[in-house]
Amino acid sequence: MRIIKTATYEEMSQRAAHIVAAHITLNPACVLGLATGSTPEGLYAELVRLHRLGDLDFRQVKTVNLDEYRHLPRNHPESYYTFMQKHLLSKINIDPANTHLPNGELADAQVACTEYETILRSTGGVDLQLLGIGRNGHIGFNEPDSVFPKDTHCVRLSESTIEANARFFSSADEVPREAYTMGVGTIMRAQRILLVASGKSKAEAVFQTVCGPVTPEVPASILQFHHDATIICDEEAGALLP
Ligand code: PGA
Repeated sequence: MRIIKTATYEEMSQRAAHIVAAHITLNPACVLGLATGSTPEGLYAELVRLHRLGDLDFRQVKTVNLDEYRHLPRNHPESYYTFMQKHLLSKINIDPANTHLPNGELADAQVACTEYETILRSTGGVDLQLLGIGRNGHIGFNEPDSVFPKDTHCVRLSESTIEANARFFSSADEVPREAYTMGVGTIMRAQRILLVASGKSKAEAVFQTVCGPVTPEVPASILQFHHDATIICDEEAGALLP
Protein backbone atom coordinates (compact mmCIF):
# COMPACT_ATOMS: atom_id res chain seq x y z
CA MET A 1 0.00 0.00 0.00
CA ARG A 2 1.37 3.41 -0.95
CA ILE A 3 0.58 6.25 1.46
CA ILE A 4 0.81 9.91 0.45
CA LYS A 5 0.28 12.48 3.19
CA THR A 6 -0.48 16.04 2.18
CA ALA A 7 -0.63 19.20 4.25
CA THR A 8 -4.11 20.27 3.17
CA TYR A 9 -7.36 19.10 1.59
CA GLU A 10 -6.55 21.14 -1.52
CA GLU A 11 -3.19 19.43 -1.94
CA MET A 12 -4.80 16.02 -1.39
CA SER A 13 -7.36 16.81 -4.11
CA GLN A 14 -4.72 17.98 -6.58
CA ARG A 15 -2.42 14.99 -6.03
CA ALA A 16 -5.32 12.58 -6.47
CA ALA A 17 -6.69 14.41 -9.54
CA HIS A 18 -3.29 14.35 -11.18
CA ILE A 19 -3.02 10.58 -10.69
CA VAL A 20 -6.47 10.15 -12.31
CA ALA A 21 -5.54 12.58 -15.11
CA ALA A 22 -2.26 10.77 -15.81
CA HIS A 23 -4.18 7.51 -15.98
CA ILE A 24 -6.61 8.94 -18.55
CA THR A 25 -3.79 10.42 -20.59
CA LEU A 26 -2.01 7.05 -20.76
CA ASN A 27 -5.25 5.06 -21.25
CA PRO A 28 -7.77 7.30 -23.05
CA ALA A 29 -10.41 4.52 -23.15
CA CYS A 30 -10.03 3.55 -19.49
CA VAL A 31 -12.79 2.51 -17.09
CA LEU A 32 -12.89 4.72 -14.01
CA GLY A 33 -14.63 3.61 -10.84
CA LEU A 34 -16.01 6.74 -9.20
CA ALA A 35 -17.01 7.65 -5.64
CA THR A 36 -19.33 10.23 -4.13
CA GLY A 37 -19.16 12.12 -0.80
CA SER A 38 -17.58 15.42 0.22
CA THR A 39 -14.02 14.15 0.01
CA PRO A 40 -13.72 13.72 -3.79
CA GLU A 41 -15.42 17.05 -4.59
CA GLY A 42 -12.07 18.90 -4.79
CA LEU A 43 -10.59 16.14 -6.93
CA TYR A 44 -13.52 16.38 -9.38
CA ALA A 45 -13.20 20.19 -9.47
CA GLU A 46 -9.53 19.78 -10.44
CA LEU A 47 -10.39 17.26 -13.18
CA VAL A 48 -12.97 19.71 -14.57
CA ARG A 49 -10.35 22.49 -14.47
CA LEU A 50 -7.82 20.35 -16.37
CA HIS A 51 -10.50 19.45 -18.91
CA ARG A 52 -11.38 23.12 -19.45
CA LEU A 53 -7.70 23.90 -19.99
CA GLY A 54 -7.82 21.40 -22.84
CA ASP A 55 -5.52 18.97 -21.01
CA LEU A 56 -7.96 16.14 -20.38
CA ASP A 57 -10.18 14.35 -22.85
CA PHE A 58 -12.99 12.11 -21.55
CA ARG A 59 -14.45 11.18 -24.95
CA GLN A 60 -13.57 7.50 -24.68
CA VAL A 61 -13.64 7.15 -20.89
CA LYS A 62 -16.24 4.94 -19.20
CA THR A 63 -17.32 5.42 -15.59
CA VAL A 64 -18.97 3.14 -13.07
CA ASN A 65 -19.96 4.44 -9.67
CA LEU A 66 -19.58 2.56 -6.43
CA ASP A 67 -23.08 2.91 -5.09
CA GLU A 68 -26.52 4.53 -5.10
CA TYR A 69 -29.30 4.93 -2.54
CA ARG A 70 -32.16 2.48 -2.96
CA HIS A 71 -35.65 3.98 -3.43
CA LEU A 72 -34.34 7.48 -4.18
CA PRO A 73 -35.51 8.86 -7.55
CA ARG A 74 -32.56 9.40 -9.89
CA ASN A 75 -33.24 13.14 -10.07
CA HIS A 76 -33.52 13.62 -6.30
CA PRO A 77 -31.04 16.36 -5.30
CA GLU A 78 -29.19 13.92 -3.02
CA SER A 79 -29.05 10.93 -5.34
CA TYR A 80 -25.56 9.93 -6.34
CA TYR A 81 -26.66 10.27 -9.96
CA THR A 82 -27.34 13.97 -9.30
CA PHE A 83 -24.07 14.33 -7.37
CA MET A 84 -22.06 12.95 -10.27
CA GLN A 85 -23.82 15.19 -12.81
CA LYS A 86 -23.26 18.25 -10.65
CA HIS A 87 -19.60 17.70 -9.76
CA LEU A 88 -18.20 16.04 -12.85
CA LEU A 89 -20.21 14.38 -15.60
CA SER A 90 -22.15 17.39 -16.92
CA LYS A 91 -18.93 19.45 -16.99
CA ILE A 92 -16.72 17.22 -19.13
CA ASN A 93 -16.92 15.78 -22.65
CA ILE A 94 -17.92 12.27 -21.59
CA ASP A 95 -20.56 10.31 -23.51
CA PRO A 96 -23.53 9.91 -21.10
CA ALA A 97 -24.01 6.38 -22.47
CA ASN A 98 -20.61 5.52 -20.98
CA THR A 99 -21.53 6.55 -17.42
CA HIS A 100 -23.11 4.08 -15.03
CA LEU A 101 -24.46 3.91 -11.49
CA PRO A 102 -26.55 1.24 -9.79
CA ASN A 103 -30.22 1.91 -10.49
CA GLY A 104 -31.67 3.00 -7.14
CA GLU A 105 -35.15 3.22 -8.66
CA LEU A 106 -35.28 -0.54 -9.16
CA ALA A 107 -37.13 -1.83 -6.10
CA ASP A 108 -36.20 -5.45 -6.79
CA ALA A 109 -32.75 -5.69 -5.22
CA GLN A 110 -31.88 -8.91 -7.02
CA VAL A 111 -32.66 -7.38 -10.42
CA ALA A 112 -30.82 -4.13 -9.61
CA CYS A 113 -27.66 -5.90 -8.42
CA THR A 114 -27.56 -8.46 -11.25
CA GLU A 115 -28.10 -5.69 -13.77
CA TYR A 116 -25.20 -3.68 -12.33
CA GLU A 117 -22.83 -6.66 -12.27
CA THR A 118 -23.70 -7.23 -15.95
CA ILE A 119 -22.84 -3.61 -16.72
CA LEU A 120 -19.56 -3.88 -14.78
CA ARG A 121 -18.59 -7.00 -16.69
CA SER A 122 -19.53 -5.42 -20.04
CA THR A 123 -17.02 -2.61 -19.44
CA GLY A 124 -14.22 -5.17 -19.22
CA GLY A 125 -13.35 -4.27 -15.61
CA VAL A 126 -12.33 -1.18 -13.68
CA ASP A 127 -8.86 0.20 -14.40
CA LEU A 128 -8.73 2.79 -11.63
CA GLN A 129 -11.15 2.75 -8.71
CA LEU A 130 -11.52 5.89 -6.64
CA LEU A 131 -12.67 5.45 -3.02
CA GLY A 132 -13.58 7.59 -0.04
CA ILE A 133 -13.70 6.04 3.42
CA GLY A 134 -16.40 6.15 6.08
CA ARG A 135 -15.66 7.01 9.70
CA ASN A 136 -16.35 3.34 10.39
CA GLY A 137 -13.94 2.20 7.65
CA HIS A 138 -16.61 1.51 5.02
CA ILE A 139 -15.76 1.60 1.31
CA GLY A 140 -18.64 2.16 -1.07
CA PHE A 141 -21.49 1.23 1.26
CA ASN A 142 -19.76 -1.92 2.49
CA GLU A 143 -20.38 -1.42 6.18
CA PRO A 144 -18.52 -3.21 9.01
CA ASP A 145 -19.64 -6.82 8.92
CA SER A 146 -18.54 -10.36 9.74
CA VAL A 147 -17.74 -11.12 6.08
CA PHE A 148 -16.43 -9.20 3.06
CA PRO A 149 -19.39 -9.07 0.61
CA LYS A 150 -18.23 -10.07 -2.86
CA ASP A 151 -20.47 -8.63 -5.56
CA THR A 152 -22.95 -5.78 -5.95
CA HIS A 153 -25.57 -6.14 -3.22
CA CYS A 154 -28.22 -4.29 -1.26
CA VAL A 155 -27.15 -3.01 2.17
CA ARG A 156 -28.84 -1.55 5.20
CA LEU A 157 -26.88 1.56 6.16
CA SER A 158 -25.31 1.62 9.61
CA GLU A 159 -26.42 4.22 12.16
CA SER A 160 -23.00 5.88 11.89
CA THR A 161 -23.38 6.28 8.11
CA ILE A 162 -26.95 7.58 8.41
CA GLU A 163 -25.76 10.11 10.97
CA ALA A 164 -22.77 11.12 8.79
CA ASN A 165 -24.98 11.56 5.70
CA ALA A 166 -27.79 13.39 7.52
CA ARG A 167 -25.95 16.67 6.78
CA PHE A 168 -27.07 16.39 3.15
CA PHE A 169 -30.76 15.91 4.01
CA SER A 170 -33.18 18.02 6.05
CA SER A 171 -32.97 15.45 8.88
CA ALA A 172 -31.59 11.99 9.64
CA ASP A 173 -35.11 10.61 9.07
CA GLU A 174 -34.86 11.62 5.41
CA VAL A 175 -31.67 9.60 4.77
CA PRO A 176 -32.50 6.46 2.80
CA ARG A 177 -31.95 3.35 4.91
CA GLU A 178 -30.71 1.15 2.07
CA ALA A 179 -28.35 1.33 -0.87
CA TYR A 180 -26.97 -0.75 -3.71
CA THR A 181 -23.21 -0.99 -3.63
CA MET A 182 -20.36 -2.73 -5.39
CA GLY A 183 -19.06 -5.49 -3.15
CA VAL A 184 -15.61 -5.59 -1.64
CA GLY A 185 -14.77 -8.27 -4.19
CA THR A 186 -15.91 -6.00 -7.02
CA ILE A 187 -13.70 -3.21 -5.66
CA MET A 188 -10.69 -5.50 -5.21
CA ARG A 189 -10.90 -6.59 -8.87
CA ALA A 190 -9.93 -3.07 -10.00
CA GLN A 191 -6.42 -2.84 -11.45
CA ARG A 192 -5.56 0.20 -9.33
CA ILE A 193 -7.19 1.74 -6.29
CA LEU A 194 -6.93 5.32 -5.09
CA LEU A 195 -8.48 6.17 -1.71
CA VAL A 196 -8.79 9.77 -0.55
CA ALA A 197 -9.36 10.72 3.10
CA SER A 198 -9.67 14.10 4.72
CA GLY A 199 -10.30 15.46 8.22
CA LYS A 200 -9.84 14.20 11.74
CA SER A 201 -13.08 12.22 11.77
CA LYS A 202 -11.31 9.79 9.38
CA ALA A 203 -8.03 9.47 11.31
CA GLU A 204 -8.96 6.31 13.22
CA ALA A 205 -10.41 4.61 10.13
CA VAL A 206 -7.28 5.45 8.12
CA PHE A 207 -5.05 4.15 10.92
CA GLN A 208 -7.01 0.87 11.18
CA THR A 209 -6.99 0.51 7.38
CA VAL A 210 -3.22 0.84 7.14
CA CYS A 211 -1.95 -0.54 10.45
CA GLY A 212 -4.76 -2.69 11.85
CA PRO A 213 -5.64 -6.31 11.11
CA VAL A 214 -7.37 -7.13 7.82
CA THR A 215 -10.94 -7.62 8.98
CA PRO A 216 -14.46 -7.10 7.59
CA GLU A 217 -15.08 -5.02 10.70
CA VAL A 218 -12.94 -2.39 8.92
CA PRO A 219 -13.83 -3.05 5.26
CA ALA A 220 -11.08 -0.76 3.91
CA SER A 221 -8.43 -2.90 5.64
CA ILE A 222 -8.75 -5.38 2.75
CA LEU A 223 -6.80 -2.86 0.67
CA GLN A 224 -3.65 -4.13 2.43
CA PHE A 225 -4.03 -7.14 0.11
CA HIS A 226 -4.41 -5.12 -3.11
CA HIS A 227 -1.36 -5.07 -5.38
CA ASP A 228 -1.74 -1.41 -6.38
CA ALA A 229 -3.56 0.63 -3.74
CA THR A 230 -2.69 4.23 -2.90
CA ILE A 231 -4.08 6.25 -0.01
CA ILE A 232 -3.84 10.02 -0.17
CA CYS A 233 -4.76 11.67 3.09
CA ASP A 234 -4.47 15.17 4.42
CA GLU A 235 -2.66 15.92 7.65
CA GLU A 236 -5.70 15.44 9.89
CA ALA A 237 -6.82 12.15 8.35
CA GLY A 238 -3.26 10.82 8.48
CA ALA A 239 -2.55 12.10 12.00
CA LEU A 240 -2.42 8.65 13.64
CA LEU A 241 -0.21 7.04 11.00
CA PRO A 242 3.37 6.36 12.07
P1 PGA B 1 -17.34 11.69 2.79
O1 PGA B 1 -17.85 10.19 2.64
O2 PGA B 1 -16.34 11.90 1.71
O3 PGA B 1 -18.56 12.53 2.62
O4 PGA B 1 -16.73 11.80 4.15
C1 PGA B 1 -16.93 9.19 2.34
C2 PGA B 1 -17.59 7.84 2.47
O5 PGA B 1 -18.50 7.70 3.30
O6 PGA B 1 -17.19 6.92 1.76
